[in-house]
Amino acid sequence: MVFAEDGAPHLRLATEDDLPSLAAMAEAALPEAWPLPLMEEALRLDHHRMVVAEAHGSVGSDRVVGYLLASLVVPDAIELLQVVVAPNCRRSGIATALMHWLGARCLAGGRILLEVRGSNRAAVRLYRRLGFRQLATRHHYYRPAAPSTAREDALVMAFTRQ
Ligand SMILES: CC(C)(COP(=O)(O)OP(=O)(O)OC[C@H]1O[C@@H](n2cnc3c(N)ncnc32)[C@H](O)[C@@H]1OP(=O)(O)O)[C@@H](O)C(=O)NCCC(=O)NCCS
Repeated sequence: MVFAEDGAPHLRLATEDDLPSLAAMAEAALPEAWPLPLMEEALRLDHHRMVVAEAHGSVGSDRVVGYLLASLVVPDAIELLQVVVAPNCRRSGIATALMHWLGARCLAGGRILLEVRGSNRAAVRLYRRLGFRQLATRHHYYRPAAPSTAREDALVMAFTRQ
C-alpha cells in the first residue's frame, strides 16, 4: 500500500542511504539522469532539497517510491530539478504530493521554475494540472533521448504563488 490512511504518501528528506536507489530510479526513468556522485553532491548542498516518498507496508530501499530534487537558493525563485516516481507506483498521486511539498515552500508572489522535455507528456500534464504555465521554449536543448533521434526542445514552465 502506497498511501497512509489519510490518503497521502509519507514524505521525508532523503539521506545518503537513499541515494543508490534514487540514482537507479533516475537512471531507468530519465535520459538526463544524474549519476550517483552528482546526487551525493546535491544532497550536501545547503540550498538543495531532496525529498523522498515512502510506501507504507514495505521494507528497506523498496519503501522509497519516488523523489523530488529542487534548488531553493532564493525562496521566491525555486527551481525544480527532478521529480521521479517508480514505474509500478505511478498515477497514484505521488508526484503530486511531492510537488505540493515544494509548493508549500514557495513564498507568496514567488515562483517555481522548471524545464521539461516537450515530448514528456506525463510530466507536462502533471505540471499543467498543478498550475504551471509555459514561459518559453529552449530549442534543441536536450540531448536525443535515444540514438538516431533528434535533439529535443525544452519547455520552460513556471508556477506563481498568489
Ligand atoms: C512524470 C511523473 C513524475 C508523474 O508521476 P506520478 O506519481 O505518476 O504522477 P501523479 O500520479 O501525481 O499524476 C498527476 C497527474 O499528472 C498527469 N499524468 C501523470 N502521468 C501521466 C501519464 N503517464 N500520461 C498522462 N498524464 C499523466 C495526469 O493529469 C495525472 O492525473 P490523473 O492520474 O488523475 O489523470 C512520472 O511519470 C515519472 O516518474 N516519469 C519519469 C521521470 C520524469 O519524466 N520526470 C519528470 C521530469 S524530471
